[in-house]
Amino acid sequence: MPSPTAAAPIRSAAPVRLAVQDDIATLTLDRPDKLNALDYATIDRLMAHLDAIEVDDAVRVVILTGAGDRAFSAGGDIREFSGSVARGPNAAVRDFVRRGQAMTARIEGFPKPVIVAVNGLAFGGGCEITEAAPLAIASDRALFAKPEILLGMPPTFGGTQRLARLAGRKKALALLLTGTRFTADQALALGLVNAVVPHDTLMPAARELAGLIARQSPLAVAAILAAVTRGLNMSIADGLLAESEQFARLVPSRDLAEGLAAWRERREPVFEGR
Ligand code: COA
Repeated sequence: MPSPTAAAPIRSAAPVRLAVQDDIATLTLDRPDKLNALDYATIDRLMAHLDAIEVDDAVRVVILTGAGDRAFSAGGDIREFSGSVARGPNAAVRDFVRRGQAMTARIEGFPKPVIVAVNGLAFGGGCEITEAAPLAIASDRALFAKPEILLGMPPTFGGTQRLARLAGRKKALALLLTGTRFTADQALALGLVNAVVPHDTLMPAARELAGLIARQSPLAVAAILAAVTRGLNMSIADGLLAESEQFARLVPSRDLAEGLAAWRERREPVFEGR
């Protein structure tokens, strides 16, 4: 039976749009008048879309970008989370911090690759999403910052953890402690994005990368994502164990048999995700 996404490419309205085409889901943060700030409704909607995408066999790769010509996202919605802060530590942590951390953890650990296409400002939570995603491509107009310090607070969506692991402690701390803005090329040098491309070619570049992954076995893709991302937080011995466990799970799969047969028969493999 065809997936519902195949027949209905556009399935939702603001604050996050979902479109599916050729095995690729594109999620668009859609509050351009607020620079795609991450209010609670946006985060909840993004999470709901990811839940649906996870079980949708028609989707093999996810691209996440922002609507409008200015921003990917200017971060947590300051007006909204100020209300949670005013209600005290428990409400602030429950409503704001846990929600944002759950979002970035979900993107980081998602079994299908999430490619962030950074189309403009990526401040605060927008930068933290980029840090959490397994892959990212930036427009040459993208601008990044960790501006929470300017609000008198530390980052709360994983921003004190992932950038230091990605770029190194001192490079991350210089950005975290000053709120200094940094360019797409600087983000590339930090290892925060995979590539910087001319603004007009951002989505084609993201789709090209997505297409290269979408033709692979989704089982092997998920195994590599899990082994690399979880392995980074383990000792090498535990990471090697995780790697061998991921491989063992694939041994009975049709995709592995197909990949090996296609190599022997000198033809392109056709992977089914089974
Ligand atoms: N939360 C809520 N609303 C935000 C927002 C945020 N993080 N970032 C931007 N907006 C809103 C603005 O309030 C404004 O809406 P309004 O006209 O209804 O007030 C709209 O988006 C446009 O932003 P504006 O500030 O007018 O644009 P600018 O070009 O003057 O400045 C920024 C751009 C990014 C420098 C500025 O918006 C900013 O500092 N945003 C906050 C960034 C931040 O600290 N993020 C981390 C939060 S933890």
